[in-house]
Amino acid sequence: LSNTVAHENARLASWNGNRLKLGFFAPNCSSGRSVTLLPERWSGDWSSNLALARLADETGIDFLLPIGRWKGYGGATDFHGSALETITWATGLLAATKRLVVFGTVHAPLFHPVVAAKQMVTADHVGHGRFGLNIVCGWNAGEFEMFGATLREHEQRYAYAQEWIDAVKAMWGDRDDFDFDGEFFHLEGVRTKPKPYGGTQPMIMNAGASADGLAFASRNCDAYFTATRLDTLENARERVAAIKAHARSLGRTVRVFTTAEVYCRPTRAEAEERFRYCCIENADWSAVEAIMPLYGRPVDRTDPNFAEHRRRFTYGFSGFLIHGTPDDVAGTLERVSDAGFDGVAFSFFDYVADLPYFAQEVLPRLERAGIRMPRSVS
Ligand SMILES: Cc1cc2nc3c(=O)[nH]c(=O)nc-3n(C[C@H](O)[C@H](O)[C@H](O)COP(=O)(O)O)c2cc1C
Repeated sequence: LSNTVAHENARLASWNGNRLKLGFFAPNCSSGRSVTLLPERWSGDWSSNLALARLADETGIDFLLPIGRWKGYGGATDFHGSALETITWATGLLAATKRLVVFGTVHAPLFHPVVAAKQMVTADHVGHGRFGLNIVCGWNAGEFEMFGATLREHEQRYAYAQEWIDAVKAMWGDRDDFDFDGEFFHLEGVRTKPKPYGGTQPMIMNAGASADGLAFASRNCDAYFTATRLDTLENARERVAAIKAHARSLGRTVRVFTTAEVYCRPTRAEAEERFRYCCIENADWSAVEAIMPLYGRPVDRTDPNFAEHRRRFTYGFSGFLIHGTPDDVAGTLERVSDAGFDGVAFSFFDYVADLPYFAQEVLPRLERAGIRMPRSVS
């Protein structure tokens, strides 16, 4: 490690003592991350989100992370067809909670930075400094067409996002009455008050997969959110270390987060059966087959690996699946922490119904393992 003190976001530095942060991913979207036909699938409606946020806050969960989604994927259930907009969603949940951080997932190309900066500051004041920004550049042309917006070439997406985040950070900073003159934005006499809550800036996260996305995170973000697979955890260790070292070489501290789907039951057989019931036997295959081409996987029934490929899309299509007993789940999360990850955004089939058992059985194991603080003092 170098002797230079890397810049670290003040809120991230003082967040809490949980070495592995845990949060919920995608509860703002119908079906969450399970591409299933079951009528009891997650509705993603406001009352469910409110119930989840309150329960998560009481339970000691660290954050909530929404998916920025504008249009359903189609299929019988129109997977993600109903999705609450994430800054307004975060604002409502911040008003109803006390401790957890709530992120907004914001498409830079679709929000004017002056509007977004002010909306996010409003959320931040409602939450007394608990709003976080997850910035995304967009990838789904169908969603952009709905806005009459063009999905730029990959490199240009990040050039645009760079200006966007520079403008937002400038507005969140001390200066006022400044001009911002870039390639994409020409903003004159910018004056935005109030500033974020308490004289510190929200944490900024970026979800990406490419070298451009990673470089963007290293330059601008406090956390990088990236999908990984359990079978590649060993490679992930090197990758995570490299990401952190690269950021450090730029004088910045970047934490790395990943995603998972969790099915936790008293026995392995029950957990496996529950997963199979929800996501295999009752999968919405028509939605899965609408999603696959968007992720570069043609629906090719002659491919000998077709069934396996298709199956991976029934539970969120990024991140990994953990199904097992509380010991299995806690053990896997320990391995994830050991690989260098600072947090996991995960999903349950039914976030509210599945949280109490997880809180009762898995959280104490993580506390005993030393990767989470005892909840009374966290
Ligand atoms: C864990 C994770 C979460 C993501 N969440 C969203 C999202 O909510 N909305 C969205 O439009 N894209 C989302 N993306 C897509 C990324 O923003 C990005 O477009 C994609 O990973 C391609 O990465 P690249 O831009 O580095 O090529 C997510 C990606 C990952 C890995």
